[in-house]
Amino acid sequence: MFSRVANPQTVITAGKHAKTICTSAQRNAKVAVCGASGGIGQPLSLLLKNSPLVSELSLYDIVHTPGVAADLSHIETRAKVAGYNGPEAVKECLKGADVVIIPAGVPRKPGMTRDDLFNTNAGIVRDLAQAIAEVAPKALIGIISNPVNSTVPIASEVLQKAGVYDPNRVFGVSTLDIVRANTFVAEAKNLDPAQVNVPVIGGHSGVTIIPLISQAKPSVEFPPDKLKALTERIQEAGTEVVKAKAGAGSATLSMAYAGARFAFALLRGLKGEPNVIECAYVRSNVTEAKYFSTPLQLGPNGIQKNLGLGKLSDFENELLKAAIPELKKNIEKGEKFVNK
Ligand SMILES: NC(=O)c1ccc[n+]([C@@H]2O[C@H](COP(=O)([O-])OP(=O)(O)OC[C@H]3O[C@@H](n4cnc5c(N)ncnc54)[C@H](O)[C@@H]3O)[C@@H](O)[C@H]2O)c1
Repeated sequence: MFSRVANPQTVITAGKHAKTICTSAQRNAKVAVCGASGGIGQPLSLLLKNSPLVSELSLYDIVHTPGVAADLSHIETRAKVAGYNGPEAVKECLKGADVVIIPAGVPRKPGMTRDDLFNTNAGIVRDLAQAIAEVAPKALIGIISNPVNSTVPIASEVLQKAGVYDPNRVFGVSTLDIVRANTFVAEAKNLDPAQVNVPVIGGHSGVTIIPLISQAKPSVEFPPDKLKALTERIQEAGTEVVKAKAGAGSATLSMAYAGARFAFALLRGLKGEPNVIECAYVRSNVTEAKYFSTPLQLGPNGIQKNLGLGKLSDFENELLKAAIPELKKNIEKGEKFVNK
């Protein structure tokens, strides 16, 4: 599991890896999950509990958290699990967290866009960001709740108003787009998906999702019609799952995998591992959009270096042009919500 890079949560008990596990285990990383009882929250918490990178797992939700925490606490790994239920417990959950991952909020049903979730999820993310500002202002924050294009600006505005905003510490989790791009490219070219790496930049909805297949590793080529179809499939892959689940929600298991992959990258960066690189949606001056996802080098203070766009093909430049106005609209909507 998660063996894409030589990462320490791969539980192998011999040689070099065993040593890495020991070293990582010495750092006491507290990870909080807000929305831990949900479709994403539960499997995400399971993956975190299974990682030697985590020593304290702090679970918050407005329902069912005691049960989820009791269940996970029986797993024979070192992370100590605690459950916190209801708004009065949120600060206790977050206190001292190194990393906070937020999958709280409603998911899509068939026919809905991610923006349709704004009215419910905007307030949830605002309130969680306020609590983080008060008790865990130095935490690295990964926001999964949709619409990510707007919830990241919302959290950022709240932190800014509280005087604790550090743009290097707030991330919109777009990892699932990369995971999907890797899988679909590997399927099309008969490659091992674990060896494929396709950067996906922009935002996390429809046309704002920009897969950079020209920069895929290993290098791959497609005729124009196939490239267009593959790009559109990556952009609409979330809707594929929403339709297949027929009213029972959106991606949860693949999102839990992607959320854990991103949380592990943050933790590996925190403990100083070199060359930890993931794409995420962050405050950015790479394009005209105030928030934009690009590959980032992660370190002890979050973003160490924004690696930028790289060289885009003509086709990808057109995708970028289409994405920017939509992104700007989504960002403005988030900012207005906080500043109204
Ligand atoms: N970033 C991505 O790629 C991506 C992918 C899939 C889903 N999502 C989003 O993730 C979110 C969660 O999806 P899900 O399928 O797990 O939904 P879900 O309904 O199964 O779970 C959401 C959980 O959030 C909890 N919650 C609601 N209000 C809360 C609050 N104020 N504080 C704490 N917890 C609260 C609920 O009790 C529930 O347990 C949705 O917004 C969905 O759109 C994002």
